[in-house]
Amino acid sequence: MKISVIGAGYVGLTTAACLAQIGHDVFCSESDLEKLTKLQNGAMPLFEPHLEDVIKAACKAGRLYFGSTEDAIAWGNAIFICVGTPPLANGDADLSAIEGVARAIAKHASGYRLVIEKSTVPVQTGAQLQKHLSVHSRNGLAYDVASNPEFLREGSSVEDFLHPDRIVIGVDSPRAEVLLRQIYEPIIQQKFTCPVHANCPTHKDPIFLATDTNSAELIKHASNSFLAMKISFINMLANLCEVVGADVTQVARGMGLDPRIGPSFLNPGIGFGGFCFPKDVQAFIRIAEKSGCDFSLLREVEKINLRRVEHFMEKIRKELWVVRGKKIAMWGLAFKPNTDDVRFAPSITLIRALLAEGAAVCAYDPEATEKARTILPEVTYCADAYEASKGADAILIVTEWDEFQQVDWTRLLSMVEQPLVIDGRNVFIPEEMSENGFRYVSIGRVDALPCQPCAEKPAPSSLRADNGVYEVPA
Ligand SMILES: NC(=O)c1ccc[n+]([C@@H]2O[C@H](COP(=O)([O-])OP(=O)(O)OC[C@H]3O[C@@H](n4cnc5c(N)ncnc54)[C@H](O)[C@@H]3O)[C@@H](O)[C@H]2O)c1
Repeated sequence: MKISVIGAGYVGLTTAACLAQIGHDVFCSESDLEKLTKLQNGAMPLFEPHLEDVIKAACKAGRLYFGSTEDAIAWGNAIFICVGTPPLANGDADLSAIEGVARAIAKHASGYRLVIEKSTVPVQTGAQLQKHLSVHSRNGLAYDVASNPEFLREGSSVEDFLHPDRIVIGVDSPRAEVLLRQIYEPIIQQKFTCPVHANCPTHKDPIFLATDTNSAELIKHASNSFLAMKISFINMLANLCEVVGADVTQVARGMGLDPRIGPSFLNPGIGFGGFCFPKDVQAFIRIAEKSGCDFSLLREVEKINLRRVEHFMEKIRKELWVVRGKKIAMWGLAFKPNTDDVRFAPSITLIRALLAEGAAVCAYDPEATEKARTILPEVTYCADAYEASKGADAILIVTEWDEFQQVDWTRLLSMVEQPLVIDGRNVFIPEEMSENGFRYVSIGRVDALPCQPCAEKPAPSSLRADNGVYEVPA
């Protein structure tokens, strides 16, 4: 099918590439001319695992093109709107980019179009789109509006798009449902050449859930708000563990074994960030408020999250006594691993707080340096974790990139000013960090002091089970 995708960001680019991968002819538009030129020249405007290869293959096969929004509107019978919906100052989602696309469709499109909102939008946006199209269309446009919220995660967007748990569509006409089913058929059947796995394991067929448009829009906001709530819950629990001397990792494990709770999103840290959770929680609060529903539960979720960086700063102050003049090594900038996205990342708030207190920050991130540099030019950006840690008074772990698991602690010990690691993501095992010679402070766990030669050695990790229960050697 000929499909258009408007907006070549994390969602739009993944959608365009993956729809081309499963056999559609896709035209993707982008209004940022720098990004568009990059894409037209075969360069990537963002980092996302596997995406570049999928785009290259699709362009080579003549199934993916990049150009203007006007040309995109002329191209496909199905138009996916994937533009940004950032927060306004009052928390509402800014729908001006969506409205701009609707206006362009009304002005330029003729014949039939299925207009699909994939951007995350407040409930009843579909109804507004319908109204807008009917009032402004000029060329005898016939159309359906559908909602198709996107659940992909940055860092695994291609995999998530091609192997989703569910595909949700919100439709108010049988024609829209039939077309969306046709578009997604290869994914529903899991029949396509998988660009992620060499021998693609059997994936469970995704559930194709068709609802009305309002419900589909709500499913997305409710899902993100629920996950954010889980994160804030475990973060608050981590605070409690720190006070009463419990280990949040063990508490989370014990909770997660209950299938009604599940283990995911129970990792405490310095808070959620990115272009989804913070703004979607805000927007959902505003939707509830405007609808007269008291969803103050979500206000607490947001409040807890906003306090995370300050809580982390308190740990830093406690360890360093005076922050002014200290050299801080920051490992990780992206809001999560495997992405270069720093939008609403806790790292940005943390760096601002450190700089305000007079610290010097040397940061390293495998992918997000360039994007962070545009926001915070006053930071020293380094080529690797070692360079960032040279002469550091503290190493802060802010993003749990896999490569941090592989560092040579002996080498680091000889480079740092103070052997201190403050881990905002609970990446390491306290006893092992102590054996490595570092004071280790993490979230919701008992801090580990560096191992003294005369001190009793903790059990080696080979004898330690995941759940912290020591095995007795035979
Ligand atoms: N990033 C995620 O993980 C994720 C996941 C699910 C849903 N979403 C939602 O998807 C939407 C897009 O998110 P994103 O992260 O891809 O944002 P993004 O900012 O990376 O991408 C949006 C792109 O749309 C472009 N754009 C704006 N107006 C345009 C127009 N008129 N014509 C062509 N291009 C235009 C922008 O220049 C930008 O490149 C948001 O509503 C977001 O909440 C994001």
